[in-house]
Amino acid sequence: MAEIERTRVREKESPAVTSYELALRQDRETAERNMTGRVVCRQDDCPQMLTRQGRLRTYLGHTIKDTPLQDWVVFTHEIRTASGKHRHQGGLVIYVIDGDGYSVVDGERIDWSKGDLVLLPLREKGVEHQHFNVNPEKPALWMAFIRRSLQDYVASEMTQTEVSPEYKAAEESGRTPA
Ligand SMILES: [Fe+2]
Repeated sequence: MAEIERTRVREKESPAVTSYELALRQDRETAERNMTGRVVCRQDDCPQMLTRQGRLRTYLGHTIKDTPLQDWVVFTHEIRTASGKHRHQGGLVIYVIDGDGYSVVDGERIDWSKGDLVLLPLREKGVEHQHFNVNPEKPALWMAFIRRSLQDYVASEMTQTEVSPEYKAAEESGRTPA
């Protein structure tokens, strides 16, 4: 009787989950997402919310995670009267989609209208700013584009110095802002 020779093939062991392996995995996932991730953020997936800063609809940043360009924060802001006031570093752009209004940036009034592009400058201590709509008949709407890596690089920190009037009213009436 022929002797059956059995060769045992040792299964390849997975490398231990070290920080280096996690970094490799993260890089691979980021590259994959940048190549094949979803490239349209549908408005229906991005509900507008009443926040301390105002009515924001966030398309990219802290929300949808399966797209390329996760380094970007992109959101719209609908302003009915005034936004909240806050301070953070500039280096971002705001495109005015509709309406007329102005921003007060470090005490200076900057008027804008539909079709304008507004730039927030980089300053040593960041820029304090607040946005206003001037048309009581129609809200103003703009979209902001922020590169998160630039914000990190300049150690930006967001500080709320005043909440939006609508948020304040919702809070005071006991309603959940939404
Ligand atoms: Fe801001």
